Amino acid sequence: MNVLVIGSGGREHALAWKLGRSPSADRVFVAPGNAGTATDAENIPSTEDDFQGLIRFAKQNAVGLTVVGPETPLAKGIVDAFRAEGLRIFGPTKTAAELEASKVFCKTLLRDAKVPTAGYNVFSDAASAIRFLNAREDGPAVVKADGLAAGKGVIVCENCEEAIAAVRTIAEQKSFGDAGNRLVIEERLQGEEASVLAITDGRNIVTLQPAQDHKPAYDGDTGPNTGGMGAYSPAPVVTDDLLHWVEAKILVPTVHAMNRAGRPFLGVLYAGLMITPLGPKVLEYNARFGDPECQPLLMRLKSDLLEILNAAVDRRLDRIEPLTWDTRPAVCVVMASEGYPGSYRKGHVIRGLEEAAQLPDVKVFHAGTQVQDGRIVTAGGRVLGVTALGENVAKAKLQAYAAVKCIRWEGAWCRKDIADKAIARMTGR
Ligand code: AMP
Ligand code: GLY
Repeated sequence: MNVLVIGSGGREHALAWKLGRSPSADRVFVAPGNAGTATDAENIPSTEDDFQGLIRFAKQNAVGLTVVGPETPLAKGIVDAFRAEGLRIFGPTKTAAELEASKVFCKTLLRDAKVPTAGYNVFSDAASAIRFLNAREDGPAVVKADGLAAGKGVIVCENCEEAIAAVRTIAEQKSFGDAGNRLVIEERLQGEEASVLAITDGRNIVTLQPAQDHKPAYDGDTGPNTGGMGAYSPAPVVTDDLLHWVEAKILVPTVHAMNRAGRPFLGVLYAGLMITPLGPKVLEYNARFGDPECQPLLMRLKSDLLEILNAAVDRRLDRIEPLTWDTRPAVCVVMASEGYPGSYRKGHVIRGLEEAAQLPDVKVFHAGTQVQDGRIVTAGGRVLGVTALGENVAKAKLQAYAAVKCIRWEGAWCRKDIADKAIARMTGR
């Protein structure tokens, strides 16, 4: 079967790499891809939002399954467009993807389904949000733009003054455009964050191993928020018991609630969780694989991903074999451009990729890279996701950073503390 992966990040490189290892995979195309997917698969020059062009390509190249990486084409209805042409595609429809694309929809659904989440209020103008904040006891709050804002529409505030400033940024200055037409003000939760992803066909779910992202830019979880500076799996904060609880009390009720709402969800249901002293609560849902969580997850997954996604599209996930995992942990360290998550320059030549690739149990997933005059150069903020397996999480971390050391370009940097929370938990430090 020919497969088409849509997107160009580290997640899509991991998807293309893993799908290509399936015995059922013939050609794997990536649109538009990066320098890494150009090696492990075949890139096609197309953009994520040219649905008609992608549909034409899928038809002309006998693509049997399309897999969508990022949220934007899902929110714009790429799944509906492919299905209308009789093409098989893995991902939620436009209305189901609202679980990620509208925080108001998500919170309402969670409340109705009695899924644990932070208490919240919804506002459609700045004045009423500010009145609400002034009337409540001063304290921490989280202010969120309703719509998609490239991961930037969430502002965690220490006090009322900061929350009012956040409301003005979102609802008056419209810093995130129409995403800020409505906003959600939430109670701020305390605890450790974790990601639990599941593949669902709308009736059955297959829960993946837990993972943990590192969203803040700098060591010790400081600095501005990013798309994710590293990830590891498993996340020891999510014990086996907790994982079952999350499946039973969070994921399954969400799948049912989506059906009741007339928006059956087929795709990756990604729960961003806060593990609070009162148990896990949902911070947000994403409607796709996480980037970079996808990289360590797929490095550990032994089962045939193409078979799983095909079963989901055919709504027969209840009939696949239980997933098998490499029991060894995987750690992914993101190497970024100087200036990220602010502005950065592109076009720096990346050296040392071959050396890194020779280390055992290492895979360097590309994100913002491209080939220019036969050389691999930087082309984005997050450039590489250097991923390694190890006997334990400390060894996986060591191996990932050994690979990072091989790689250089002008201004390259990374966090130095990826997986330290897991190591501390495992060693009781
Ligand atoms: P989201 O995009 O909703 O996951 O939010 C981005 C980040 O903001 C999360 O990863 C958390 O670190 C933080 N966050 C969001 N909602 C809350 C909350 N209710 N309490 C504490 N932190 C939050
Ligand atoms: N790593 C967080 C996300 O993919 O949204």
